[in-house]
Amino acid sequence: PRVSLIGAPTDVGAGVRGASMGPEALRVAQLQPALEAQGCDVIDRGNLSGPPNPWQPPVNGYRHLDEVVAWNQVVHEAVHAELQQGRLPLLLGGDHCLGIGSISAVARYCRETGKKLRVLWLDAHADFNTNTLTPTGNVHGMPVAVLCGHGPQALTHLGGHHPAIKPQMVRQIGIRSVDAGEKRLVHAENLEVFDMRYIDEMGMRHTMEMALALLDAQTHLHVSFDVDFLDAEVAPGVGTTVRGGPTYREAQLCMEMIADTGRLGSLDVVELNPALDVRNQTAEVAVDLIASLFGKSTLMRR
Ligand code: ARG
Ligand code: MN
Ligand code: MN
Ligand code: MN
Repeated sequence: PRVSLIGAPTDVGAGVRGASMGPEALRVAQLQPALEAQGCDVIDRGNLSGPPNPWQPPVNGYRHLDEVVAWNQVVHEAVHAELQQGRLPLLLGGDHCLGIGSISAVARYCRETGKKLRVLWLDAHADFNTNTLTPTGNVHGMPVAVLCGHGPQALTHLGGHHPAIKPQMVRQIGIRSVDAGEKRLVHAENLEVFDMRYIDEMGMRHTMEMALALLDAQTHLHVSFDVDFLDAEVAPGVGTTVRGGPTYREAQLCMEMIADTGRLGSLDVVELNPALDVRNQTAEVAVDLIASLFGKSTLMRR
């Protein structure tokens, strides 16, 4: 595929600073050559710009809402432009609030082209909070709810269509931290969650078979990869670590099975926090996994 790297160096949606350095850490970890080794034609578009992080407490249950809106607007336009040119946007976050701009753009493109959308949300967290449910006010805990229509107008109407997606389009994998109010909304909206207990009992292979069921040639597959999906021992460089995530091998299998579908159309890599990392190890692990997502395998030939 033809891949466009889009850096979005911000942490306005997070409660810990540092994810704004994620794009550069992924570049330092040789993301572009790793993709080229898989036969991708890669263009690095550089970084988007947006407002700085004012580091203020939440207002009305949202921290930095105006800045979050501004960043998501530029991300939305950049991602949509790449899709229109037939390229695969790879968003380098930045915190996970950027999934709002990215996925609303993908959903808009799918409506314009008559494609079906499937979103795989790889994360320790459901990110299904609202301003009344959130314990923190951090918008990176809200993007899935916003995309499903729960949130402020400035975010829920980003792509001009409300809601941007339906909960039935989403499969969440690796979840192990959901807040009390958030849990009620997950059930009320029937969000399909393959949590860590499911993965423990059924294995990653069966989990991915279920999450990838019923894809067809018309399906655009979007992967939103929050690096805190991974077990903290493999991926210390994230702001909101939760013990007990997928191992390196489980995560590799997850990525390989997505690659095998041949349907990957867009990708977010978010929440990498170099300020908390150990010698860029987490960025390097993320690059290994992204290579698998684009088809790297030990013995199979391209
Ligand atoms: N559930 C917590 C919150 O809403 C943590 C969210 C973490 N989200 C993330 N994308 N890392 O504040
Ligand atoms: Mn997370
Ligand atoms: Mn099975
Ligand atoms: Mn997340």
